[in-house]
Amino acid sequence: MPPRSPGKTPPPGGTPRRSFRIPAAPRSTAPGAPPSLRRVSAPAIIRSPLLLADGWRDYQLLHCGFGLKQERWGRVNLVRPDPQVIWPKSDGPEWKGWDGFYHRSQEGGGRWEFRNRPPEHWTIGYERLGLTFRIQPTSFKHTGLFPEQAVNWEWSSALIKQARASGREINVLNLFGYTGAATCAAAKAGASVTHVDAAEGMVKWCKENAALSGLAEAPIRYIVDDCLKFVRREIKRGRKYDAVIMDPPTYGRGAGGEMWKLEDSLWELLRECREVLTPSPLFFLINAYTARLSPTVVANLLHALLGDRAGAITAGEVGLPIQADAVSGSAAGKNDYAKVLPCGIYGRWQSAE
Ligand SMILES: C[S@@+](CC[C@H](N)C(=O)[O-])C[C@H]1O[C@@H](n2cnc3c(N)ncnc32)[C@H](O)[C@@H]1O
Repeated sequence: MPPRSPGKTPPPGGTPRRSFRIPAAPRSTAPGAPPSLRRVSAPAIIRSPLLLADGWRDYQLLHCGFGLKQERWGRVNLVRPDPQVIWPKSDGPEWKGWDGFYHRSQEGGGRWEFRNRPPEHWTIGYERLGLTFRIQPTSFKHTGLFPEQAVNWEWSSALIKQARASGREINVLNLFGYTGAATCAAAKAGASVTHVDAAEGMVKWCKENAALSGLAEAPIRYIVDDCLKFVRREIKRGRKYDAVIMDPPTYGRGAGGEMWKLEDSLWELLRECREVLTPSPLFFLINAYTARLSPTVVANLLHALLGDRAGAITAGEVGLPIQADAVSGSAAGKNDYAKVLPCGIYGRWQSAE
């Protein structure tokens, strides 16, 4: 991690590079509508092009180029393919100092080559939130963690902590929860969390991450299920949530083989999620890695879903700073980066109450 100047830690939720604001639409009220559906005021929409996850110590994105990225995960140095990286590496085509290299195969998938074989799994910490995660190179090139998501963990943590400080109980629903980094962040901030994923192995991994983060006894419900089916069941049971986090994949399968296709299924799921929100929800967060969803589309979805509630919608990209492309001594006194790896998009709705 490049040196930071004292007192220059990035704000919670990542360092914004620049943003512009669209003024809120005028207030209007639908007479006779139930309180939760009453049009209170249209949310302000803030489009922020890029949030930078630059709060890591145990993780670094070292180099990017020629379709690959080199990262330090604790003491382990891995090179993995990344389809976004279509530019050349700044210090030439040779990859040095790696322990593991994922080679893509022509037939699809790929395989790891290890020079210095790391342990089967190890841990890294995100100190700013007191979280520890199990890292394991998987056969699909993944490691069990998306480090750029730290900007969203910080954002949701800050909102939950603020609500808890005013004595409010917060119930979070985390859909497509994967290995549970967002679940752990929310639980660490004091929320009760329901973690849903179709893959049993992912839910087990989440439980391990919770234990590693000191959350073995935290109020986390671990659910192996199809997200849409689960939310529909929650509607029938009358369960309510103060916040929803979701990270829907482009394609997926539910626990019973149910087909998930983002373009066809997302709006349906969002509509169902609205039914499980408490009358005064705290936030709604959508992440996506797919090139098929632009931040503007996610902002539009959130506006269609929650546009009748007082709040703010923010949408943009998340990215990781590339250390080899750091430019020190910027006017702000902290490093800037000539290149950043874009890692997906986010859309956030946040209550104004
Ligand atoms: C992109 S990953 C989520 C990443 C994670 N939220 C994070 O930031 O670390 C997508 C997850 O969705 C799960 N999944 C896919 N289709 C599903 C479905 N229909 N219902 C429930 N989970 C599903 C997969 O098992 C996978 O763990």
